[in-house]
Amino acid sequence: MKSKKQVGQLHEYARDLQNTPIIELFSADPNRVSDFTFEAAGLFLDVSKNRLNKQTLSSLLELVDKCHVKEKIADLFNGVHVNVTEDRPALHVALRASSDTESWVPKNFIAEAEESKLRLKSLVDAMRSGEKCNDDGERFSDVVMIGVGGSNLGPKLAIEALREEETSAINIHFLDHLDGEKFRNLVSSLPPHKTLFVVASKSFGTSETLRNYESARDWLKSRLIEKTSLKNHFIAITANGAKAKAAGINEGNILKIPDWVGGRYSVWSAMGIPIALKYGYRVYEDFLSGAALLDHHFRTAPLEKNLPVILGMVGIWNTNFLQSSSLAIIPYEHRLSSLPMYLQQLEMESNGKSLSLDGAAIDYHSAPVTWGASGTDAQHSFCQLLHQGTHQIPVDFILALKAPLGYEKHQDMIVANCLAQSRALMLGNERENNIENHKKLRGDRPSSIIYMDKLHPKTLGALISLYEHKTFVQSTVWNINPFDQWGVELGKAFASSIINDIDSETSCNQNDPSTAAIISRYKALKTGRCT
Ligand code: F6P
Repeated sequence: MKSKKQVGQLHEYARDLQNTPIIELFSADPNRVSDFTFEAAGLFLDVSKNRLNKQTLSSLLELVDKCHVKEKIADLFNGVHVNVTEDRPALHVALRASSDTESWVPKNFIAEAEESKLRLKSLVDAMRSGEKCNDDGERFSDVVMIGVGGSNLGPKLAIEALREEETSAINIHFLDHLDGEKFRNLVSSLPPHKTLFVVASKSFGTSETLRNYESARDWLKSRLIEKTSLKNHFIAITANGAKAKAAGINEGNILKIPDWVGGRYSVWSAMGIPIALKYGYRVYEDFLSGAALLDHHFRTAPLEKNLPVILGMVGIWNTNFLQSSSLAIIPYEHRLSSLPMYLQQLEMESNGKSLSLDGAAIDYHSAPVTWGASGTDAQHSFCQLLHQGTHQIPVDFILALKAPLGYEKHQDMIVANCLAQSRALMLGNERENNIENHKKLRGDRPSSIIYMDKLHPKTLGALISLYEHKTFVQSTVWNINPFDQWGVELGKAFASSIINDIDSETSCNQNDPSTAAIISRYKALKTGRCT
């Protein structure tokens, strides 16, 4: 948001359009649908139901130009240290680039990525063929991925989204929460001798993951018959091999992920192991190649046809010029139910910042609150507020047109409901006669639709890549670093000092009165001094 003049003009456009019904923008431009629909890598992005016209869009693209987004995209792909506060590149794109087709990512990064993919492939093949098995020569039937945030959300999303590809009998489970009840409930149905745990942690220092790892070890220790080696049952995926080894993981069972991949961008690395285990390495490669197609588009397409640029700038228009403070994500596809949560981390952990790249406070909004749930469930919970509430909340609808496996009548209704929501948000009913006051819907609420013919590994890869790059475009315009997350550190430090307090006989005096009172009741309950 550097150019005051450009920003000033956009504010003027926003004022001019304030009272123009979105539907009138369609009559003003007979080609609006094609002018505002963009296509790449099997995805279509229709932003025509947003409150903007060609003049707005071209002014937003001038802002993109003035913020040097093109140059920053080149920096991202070329391995420049775009993560300035941690002084390293953010090269998740290298993980999905292939050495024969793409020459833009520096060769050494591609070589590192390929080496780790080879290790992943041989481990996955060995597990699927039964060559890697337990000490009794039996295949592992259950794999539990222990990890949180980026070491959980991407693999979980992909496992759910690609259900149709099922090719192996391995059951995949995710253990992200610290709640002991979740642990107990999960392991109670697992066969210990045929269960493999994947400890997924880039840092190998996340306390929730390490706690669950300890409990998994204890559980196995108490259940395995003696000849079975505990170490066979654990694999680590990490950038910190030394810590994993020190924590008891066999060196041969440690898959490294490069340091230059951010946690929330790591599904493309060995963190994606559940995808390859469950659906086969080919599916995992297709997933990567779909993302690579979108990467190619992002790097080469002109700004005015560039999906991540358009999606990012429509978001900036809604946030910074039309004053929306949140973004709802509603996938009309049950297999994408975890997408809102995935995007929550991607967008909010990346761009939930109030300091610019040089550490100064910014005086405009950055990432809106991202939230959502799958349609049609959403229609029966929060959509009321989207239609009649006092907040204006833009929506991204995600729609896969083709039905997964028959059930076409269901699919007809899915498509109809998705389109109906977006249409109702735009039109409302105030223009109709004789509507009672409390039934009136003002309409003119913006939404975009991202659609594809079918949800498959490639379109899923492209969809995630689209949002990753959208996030990057926005961070560039907001002049913030999307690749660090210092905001989460303080909470971790406080948690560890509170745990010390809970463990100690005496109470530390450093806590605020509210925290101290709850700790004190907790300790009393633990020791049976109160009920
Ligand atoms: O606390 C936030 C975070 O650092 C995320 O960025 C990351 O995805 C998650 O924790 C898990 O971190 P790790 O993979 O190091 O366990």
